[in-house]
Amino acid sequence: MFKITLLPGDGIGPEVTAGAVRVLQAVQKCTGVEITMQEALFGGCAYDKTGTPLPEETLRLCLEGDAVLLGAVGGPRWDNLPVHLRPERGALLPLRKELGVFANLRPSLIFPSLADASTLKREVVDGLDLMVVRELTGGIYFGKKQREDLPEGGYRVVETLEYTTGEIERVARVAFELARKRRCKLTSVDKANVLESSRLWREVVSGLAAEYPDVELNHMLVDNCAMQLVRNPKQFDVLLTENMFGDILSDQASQLTGSIGMLPSASLGGKVGLFEPIHGSAPDIAGKDIANPIASILSVAMMLRYSFNLEEEAALVERAVSAVLEEGYRTTDIMQPGMRRVSTGEMAELIAGKIQ
Ligand code: NAD
Ligand code: IPM
Ligand code: MN
Repeated sequence: MFKITLLPGDGIGPEVTAGAVRVLQAVQKCTGVEITMQEALFGGCAYDKTGTPLPEETLRLCLEGDAVLLGAVGGPRWDNLPVHLRPERGALLPLRKELGVFANLRPSLIFPSLADASTLKREVVDGLDLMVVRELTGGIYFGKKQREDLPEGGYRVVETLEYTTGEIERVARVAFELARKRRCKLTSVDKANVLESSRLWREVVSGLAAEYPDVELNHMLVDNCAMQLVRNPKQFDVLLTENMFGDILSDQASQLTGSIGMLPSASLGGKVGLFEPIHGSAPDIAGKDIANPIASILSVAMMLRYSFNLEEEAALVERAVSAVLEEGYRTTDIMQPGMRRVSTGEMAELIAGKIQ
């Protein structure tokens, strides 16, 4: 019996999470895997109801369960709250930290039927299969922050980027191990020509290479990497990087697959795994039933694979997504001429229908 905590959150979060739940129910019915789901308040909606974006009860449920499925949080309604009450700073980051999920896996994989949905030429993206491993609980997101008044008016802010050898080593090992199971190529991305933290990053990653002689390691500066991702993304297998670079590069990598609405993630390394689409609450399309639920549905596949060790069930979900795309069904973000446009709910229903 697996216990999942659902945190639908804000904006399109509840819409895409409902789709993922629909698919999980189909998996349960088809395979007999026993799963219980319990929903909790998280993000802006939690602030509205309880005065805090991360209620204690929510955190307790997450820590007690076997995995967390998160939709998205945030939106203009909460943007001007004091930082500790904002959904991103007051809920999402503390949750990641509390769960101890330091390794964030963001696979950028193109489904063959979407090779023309990307804004890049088919030949550049067709067959793409790369994995971003993003450090998730350190770096500038979690360093000391300070804002002070200046005598002449205005402010001075300080924001600190910290990493320890241990923090770098543990996420690098995850990346080496993953590369080993894939095409044995690891590109570590940094800004070692400028940042001290990146120099340590490079040193530690290089130091591990001898333990993984079967993995080909190279280092790339982050600005070049951003360029290479659109020039020739198929040169990459596993990309390893620190928290903020990984945030930015993974949004960029997502578009290679056709839409950010396609990219799932798994955050691992703690007792309880956290699974969420890489996109946000998309306030511009929230409440319209047009968001793409596939990122969330594929996050469920990652949960089955990485938290529950149910590889066959994970593959079942991925094949169901592929089959529905092959049949020409598309949400608005991946719509193309001649295809059949469906809503969030319809897409989830179609995918659930293929789980048998
Ligand atoms: P976003 O990812 O929410 O949206 C960026 C663009 O992509 C928008 O045009 C949106 O409509 C589109 N998009 C995103 N997901 C989609 C989907 N599933 N289907 C179709 N189109 C999709 O990023 P943003 O607009 O910069 O941020 C909006 C809010 O979300 C902010 O408050 C931000 O802090 C928050 N955010 C939260 C998370 C999270 O909870 N993990 C992640 C990113 C951003
Ligand atoms: C993501 C998001 C978050 C991040 C924000 C909302 C804090 O952009 O999950 O990619 O930067 O980690
Ligand atoms: Mn992001």
